[in-house]
Amino acid sequence: MTASVTSAPAIVRTIPEMRKAIREYRSQASPGATVGFVPTMGFLHEGHASLIRRSNLDNGLTVLSIFVNPLQFGPNEDFERYPRDESRDLEVAAAAGADIVFLPSVEEMYPRRTATQITVAGVTERLCGASRPGHFDGVGVVVTKLFNIVSPDRAYFGLKDAQQVAVVERMVQDLDQPVEIVPCPIVREADGLAMSSRNVYLSADERREALVLSRTLAQVPAWIASGMTAERLEAAVTAGISASPLAVIDYVEALTYPSLTPPAADVPLSDADERLIVAVAVKFGRTRLIDNILISVPEA
Ligand code: PAF
Repeated sequence: MTASVTSAPAIVRTIPEMRKAIREYRSQASPGATVGFVPTMGFLHEGHASLIRRSNLDNGLTVLSIFVNPLQFGPNEDFERYPRDESRDLEVAAAAGADIVFLPSVEEMYPRRTATQITVAGVTERLCGASRPGHFDGVGVVVTKLFNIVSPDRAYFGLKDAQQVAVVERMVQDLDQPVEIVPCPIVREADGLAMSSRNVYLSADERREALVLSRTLAQVPAWIASGMTAERLEAAVTAGISASPLAVIDYVEALTYPSLTPPAADVPLSDADERLIVAVAVKFGRTRLIDNILISVPEA
């Protein structure tokens, strides 16, 4: 199987079929040909398409998975109503150039209760790890299963969920999983809203108000350059977002990246010699959005 920009991808729904497709590709491909993997929960947008295109540039074969993973949703979260549209997703996957789309059912992925846990300590203590208990344990299990099924050389993750990237990178290092993690930039709408499958939940008013996130985060480099400490920066970001009457803040945190630990208190962030992240989670109505900015301090 070879990468093609326009042909329809092969659709695979079972684990044995997926393993067979990879075995066949590797047995026929030229030596050194690599497999790229883009794990998703579907309802694909331009952010996902950019990951597929990047994988196509780097690899001979690109596998996209679409699986809404029940293990990473809490009991009061949106697993049941998470948006799903298989036929539209297949069109996006074909246009972006995926070669294989892996679409397993919940029964295929979890034929029995999963007794094995994967907890990545430390990097999951804050941000979404704190707000969504168990979320990253569910991500760890599904990503490990998908890596075991697809056996990719590289896997592509968007930095909109920068904590997920840090968690997966740490898991791969700790468990010697033989895959290179490729973090990819956040893709935004023309007006700045970070692309997310959950944006579809927003009403017109909420969609407009949600722009406060990217507008506020865009001021972070200047605020750091002006000598703010982490505490003052978090207060400035909180005030910026609170200007929207619809915004209900879950968290605003300035941390080092990828360790996700607090920077030294009382020291201006402009003096930090580590990468920093300012990450936010904010609800607009029933929709919880996340966004962030990653900064290498000399850039600020
Ligand atoms: O980022 C996502 O869409 C999901 O967390 C992932 C990586 C596909 C695992 O279910």
